[in-house]
Amino acid sequence: MSPFVLTRTLPPDATAAALRADVAEGLTRSPKELPPKWFYDARGSELFDEITLLPEYYPTRSEREILLARAGAIAGATGARTLVELGSGSSDKTRHLIRALEALEFYVPVDVSESALAGAAETLLAEHPALTVHALVADFQYGLALPEGLPGPRLIAFLGGTIGNLLPPERATFLAGIRAGLAPGDALLLGTDLVKDQSVLLPAYDDAQGVTAAFNKNVLTVINRELGADFEPDGFDHVALWDARREWIEMRLRARAPAVVKIPTLDLAVHFEAGEELRTEVSAKFRQEGVRRELAEAGLELTHWWTDEAGRFALSLSVPVSLPV
Ligand code: SAH
Ligand code: AVI
Repeated sequence: MSPFVLTRTLPPDATAAALRADVAEGLTRSPKELPPKWFYDARGSELFDEITLLPEYYPTRSEREILLARAGAIAGATGARTLVELGSGSSDKTRHLIRALEALEFYVPVDVSESALAGAAETLLAEHPALTVHALVADFQYGLALPEGLPGPRLIAFLGGTIGNLLPPERATFLAGIRAGLAPGDALLLGTDLVKDQSVLLPAYDDAQGVTAAFNKNVLTVINRELGADFEPDGFDHVALWDARREWIEMRLRARAPAVVKIPTLDLAVHFEAGEELRTEVSAKFRQEGVRRELAEAGLELTHWWTDEAGRFALSLSVPVSLPV
């Protein structure tokens, strides 16, 4: 078998159709809202990688610290022969895990961003020529059609805190779907950003150099290009706020002045009032009890919980159990 295979599990028009549906639905409701997965075209993936290097954006550094300290323990606990990574992006931190997983034969990165998958595979294969990389361009929220014959034990990794970008009901559906695909001996490695003071949280989502603002506005550029819309990205301000009740960060785009945006592909004109906000992302922050409970509700038992020294971020390992009837 060739060491690198890339499979698109979606029909060619599915992405465009899903974007049209999300834009038509999200921009005609009040308040306006878009799902965060549309940030990640090639430029959005590059901007995210820049975010991970910002002094204010601690999650990537914190999770890397945990992975470096615990990769051996994860390898020992799982003995994984297959590593499936959801929302893998550049797979940069994953390299620490791959190095430690001595029995690993297959790495299956799954992402909506084909450019990120291709770049990651090139780097990884240069480092691990014996590894087979089978990349999947797929939406991890809509059921995973994994390639046949992946040997167990399988470790499913969902890193970076990306689970926090799903709303609570979406998380429940997502985790139940993961659980349904696990066999005895398989495990889930989950990265969750932790609740902390907003003096740390807010700058992470509103950095001094404006990279996060550019990332946020990139969704408008994606809609302009894909749907022929005429959003003026500079007509919107980047907003990051902490919702203390729901314990999540929200990113929004606030219209500076009244605007009418035309989206010819949808035969739609979207009106914005001055100051009107469009929610583009939630980024939930977690506590151990909440993660344990959400996993348990999906039929997963938390077996390990590791944090970085500063207690900012957590990696957990969980295994499938039977749900009570
Ligand atoms: N895991 C990496 C990247 C996190 S950025 C890290 O920890 O640094 C989030 C990644 O998830 C992006 O690469 C984005 O393209 C991908 N992504 C977001 N929503 C997705 C979805 N619904 N299905 C598949 N990939 C998705
Ligand atoms: C991918 N995800 C976990 C990031 C986060 O922190 O919620 C996306 C991001 N949004 C703004 N900055 C980074």
